[in-house]
Amino acid sequence: MSPDKRVWINGEVVGRDEARIDIEDRGFQFADGIYEVVRIYHGRPFALAAHLQRLGRSAEGIGLALRPDVTVLAREIEAFITRHAPADSMLYLQATRGPAPRNHQFPAQPAPTLLFYAKPLPPPGEPAGSTVRLLSVKDERWSRCWIKSMALLANVLAKNQALAAGADEAVFVDGPLVHEGSASNILAVREGRLIAPPAGPRVLGGITRGALVELCPRLGIEVAERPLTEQEALAAEELLITSTTREVAPVVAWDGRPVGGGVCGPVTRRLAQVLRERIEHECREAR
Ligand SMILES: Cc1ncc(COP(=O)(O)O)c(C=O)c1O
Repeated sequence: MSPDKRVWINGEVVGRDEARIDIEDRGFQFADGIYEVVRIYHGRPFALAAHLQRLGRSAEGIGLALRPDVTVLAREIEAFITRHAPADSMLYLQATRGPAPRNHQFPAQPAPTLLFYAKPLPPPGEPAGSTVRLLSVKDERWSRCWIKSMALLANVLAKNQALAAGADEAVFVDGPLVHEGSASNILAVREGRLIAPPAGPRVLGGITRGALVELCPRLGIEVAERPLTEQEALAAEELLITSTTREVAPVVAWDGRPVGGGVCGPVTRRLAQVLRERIEHECREAR
């Protein structure tokens, strides 16, 4: 069996065909669970500790006791990646409240389902090499978006609405505010300063966003972690989205109109390059 067909499920590594989920798993029936996506470069995970920290926060946010805990989980993931993950891939991890007779009420003795597996990805292209056109969609999600919940129907519908309109990604807006993409954070450059909407009710604390914010001071780029208005986004010198699988991508259109000059700006390019250097350092050179 090819190594990327293996799944770690509740402490066992099995072939994907052998992995079993109960039809009454609460993840399947209620989306009662959380997840993470970790990018693997050169056979090494990038920012695994940050992803596991966020997993811990998400678990706490839904009152789920992770077993094993994140320290043991980190070791299990590392061992799995070494043996079973393609050099360029992503690790998908999901933790649900497990199987129980269908009932909204939490089971008295939950037996959470925890699984992860790796999927191959093409090697990364040029930093900031692919541009993005956004379609704005009214944010009708819940107000605990800082939890990386498996309940992604609103995100799925928004993304498909964007694709149907000829855009690449949906951006959630509500009144004057821009929140985030369907699977990405959005940031703007105004007067040379990076505006990064912080994690909160309508914004996930993206690991890639966090890495950029951390890198800015040593690049001499000032950061303002504050809400972003649609008016500011439309008038920004540069607009960018970030995610684990996309890294940094310049936004060139918003509802069919050019934004950020319609090209990748210098701050976006620099941030994308420096992020890639950090990835290379962590995943290749520090091996
Ligand atoms: C809703 C949402 N916001 C932001 C992000 C970006 O987060 P990260 O950089 O951790 O991938 C994602 C990633 O999938 C997401 O689904």
